[in-house]
Amino acid sequence: MADRRPVIAGNWKMFKTVHEAEDYAVKFLDEVKDVTDIDIVLCAPFTALSALKNELEESIVHLGAQNMAWADQGAYTGEISAQMLLDVACTYVILGHSERREMFGETDEEIARKVQQALRAGLTPILCCGENLSLREEGKAVERVQGQVTRALAGLSADELSRIIIAYEPIWAIGTGKTASSKDAQEMCASIRATLTERMGMAAEKVPILYGGSVKAENIAELMTEPDVDGALVGGASLDPLQFAKLIKNAG
Ligand code: G3P
Repeated sequence: MADRRPVIAGNWKMFKTVHEAEDYAVKFLDEVKDVTDIDIVLCAPFTALSALKNELEESIVHLGAQNMAWADQGAYTGEISAQMLLDVACTYVILGHSERREMFGETDEEIARKVQQALRAGLTPILCCGENLSLREEGKAVERVQGQVTRALAGLSADELSRIIIAYEPIWAIGTGKTASSKDAQEMCASIRATLTERMGMAAEKVPILYGGSVKAENIAELMTEPDVDGALVGGASLDPLQFAKLIKNAG
């Protein structure tokens, strides 16, 4: 792996009350306090962000959200703006997660607007991409993912592209226990990097590309041996503080 700093982000999805998040943070921080070579991000539900801002302040753990609006502010019932995320000390935001695409109909174009808005606000977007099982079986996975990345990053300058993180999450591996092989993860992450290189030249070497989809403490080490896998976006295994801390230490 080129000199890219690894990133391990936990995506709690729709889990944890404020109290549960506070309790998690106390245990988690104690476990990871000596980790210096990995960027650690907790992406919590909106309702827990303010409490986590306080718990994580002065710590090595960064705070992220799981979505945001593409507008600055206004009559957008139910939405959360980038400024609101900055207000609770978020520095990262997951965008384009397959669950938002599949269940809430988010399009590449909407995701592109959100990526642009996040960058304008100074947030680091974690842009998700990934194919479903039928496309994988038809040999069209790379084509689909490259298309997602190209459309979601349309219009960005090389400097803007250098401020994103990409997470490759094959849909068939999310929540299923069926982790992609490290070879398949590497192949896709390398194809994503090739797509970035077409847009930004050698600067693409500095963009972290993560793998997500049934990552556990037991399989992270093998994934991290791949040259274009720079970390993980972790769902289920991030919900327990001790398990997630073990996964992070195994990634190092
Ligand atoms: O965003 C990460 C998530 O989609 C992966 O979920 O439970 O397979 O680690 P999980």
